[in-house]
Amino acid sequence: MDKFYITTPIYYPSGKFHIGTAYTTVLADTIKKYKKLRGYDTYLLTGTDEHGQKIQTVAQERGMEPQQYVDEMADLAKDLWKKMNIEYDDFIRTTEERHTKIVQEIFEKFIKNGDIYKGTYEGMYCIPCETYFTKTQLVDGKCPDCGREVKLMKEEAYFFNMKKYADKLLEAYENIDFITPEFRKTEMINNFIKPGLEDLCVTRTSFDWGIKVKSDPKHVIYVWLDALTNYLTALGYMSDDDTLFKKYWPADVQIVGKDIARFHLIYWPIFLMALGLPLPKKILVHNWIMMKDGKMSKSKGNVVYPELLIDRYGLDATRYFLLREIPVVQDGVFSPEGFVERFNYDLCNDLGNLLNRTVSMVNKYFNGIVPKYNGHKNDVDEELENTTKEQIKKIENYIEKFEFANALSETWNLISRTNKYIDETTPWILDKNNETEKLQSCMYHLIENLRTIGIILIPFMQDTANNILRQIGINDINLKTWESMEKYDSIPENTKVIQKGEPLFMRLDVEKEVEYIKEGMKH
Ligand code: MSP
Repeated sequence: MDKFYITTPIYYPSGKFHIGTAYTTVLADTIKKYKKLRGYDTYLLTGTDEHGQKIQTVAQERGMEPQQYVDEMADLAKDLWKKMNIEYDDFIRTTEERHTKIVQEIFEKFIKNGDIYKGTYEGMYCIPCETYFTKTQLVDGKCPDCGREVKLMKEEAYFFNMKKYADKLLEAYENIDFITPEFRKTEMINNFIKPGLEDLCVTRTSFDWGIKVKSDPKHVIYVWLDALTNYLTALGYMSDDDTLFKKYWPADVQIVGKDIARFHLIYWPIFLMALGLPLPKKILVHNWIMMKDGKMSKSKGNVVYPELLIDRYGLDATRYFLLREIPVVQDGVFSPEGFVERFNYDLCNDLGNLLNRTVSMVNKYFNGIVPKYNGHKNDVDEELENTTKEQIKKIENYIEKFEFANALSETWNLISRTNKYIDETTPWILDKNNETEKLQSCMYHLIENLRTIGIILIPFMQDTANNILRQIGINDINLKTWESMEKYDSIPENTKVIQKGEPLFMRLDVEKEVEYIKEGMKH
């Protein structure tokens, strides 16, 4: 069985997780579910990035020890992923010993190999915030966090010799196609590599909430070296049991948001090169969910937490919106109006009605028994069969490229085409005229298309997918596989739809729900 290793970034537990963080995780989970459906031995890793100045400060503000704070936050992350039906295989926390111990060893290895050297760090330092800033980060020459004066300060620090690997990195960019979308690679070359790669400062002495350098414990390892290596330590790299590492590394796809592209497209491959390890097969950089008034931020009062949507509209509607409306390669916009509209049009009208009409017609005309496949008795039947086959290929191609918004848009084209088929074949007239064979063929085609739609939706909206398959009487697991969509005549005799169709989604009152979401965004 081929393996497929997927990673999400590990999240900073510095505040509640919003739909932006949920988006990265939902993308990863959709890939996992799809690959599983295609027969891969999948492994999905997620986790929390628990060290650093910011976490220490937040914990202090709440009057908590950092460890106690991150313990609580890691539990919240796990609760949320459970609620969102995220099928992760492991959850790594950077404060766990399995991680800290190996990070220390990796650091010593880098020193020994001459990749890390001791030097002096210089920067603008804000004493009350205990944080260094670069000149460009300052706001009117003052601390961007508290607005107070900053001072030019120097301290001893360790650096990673990035320059040494610049050519090798460019060579890798040319020879291995590991970055999606391609334009991110060009961005890295033009913005960071061509102007001259700077060595990276990999330790701090200004705070102590982090992993200590083993041979020089007054230094704490800077969060990015600590964080990036989670993808290896979680698999037991350099530990007594590295079975998982041997099996799953290199990663098949690592998903990251655009803001952390630089760390994953430059530093990460360089760390791997320095360790003599193969690079990931793919790093997928996705864009962001924006609000109508720009970025989500607490101060603007426009943050959307997944619970707000899930608790009222269900998980699948939430996942559907994120995957359908936010394309991976462009920013997408969340708006309450957009959410309610997609819910009503796509989920209730298009999908819900197709299922409902079909189930009730099979009950009305054939006592709930799906007629046997009898070829195609109409030109429209044949056309529908062909279009369906083409759509499956199109959708599959988009999924393989991780273009989920396009994959869903094509799935909805198939749903609309199937709805249109009902209007074209006019089953009620076939019934009136006693054209039984045609009517049988029509019902069969509708059920077969719903089976296809159900299977396609498994990675995106698992409960809805299973609900559709259950309502049309598809229980055999062999009829729920991706491969089973190739055959158009596979529904067995005596397949029985449920007696009374159950609505998948209940239509929303637009005004009321838009108001509800807007209100919820304020809290
Ligand atoms: N801890 C680092 C990652 C270390 S990985 C070795 C980090 N954490 S984060 O919590 O700030 O962000 C995690 C992910 O959430 C990133 O991929 C980021 O792009 C994503 N998102 C945060 N806000 C987002 C949106 N508004 N929209 C989409 N994704 C967003 O960075």
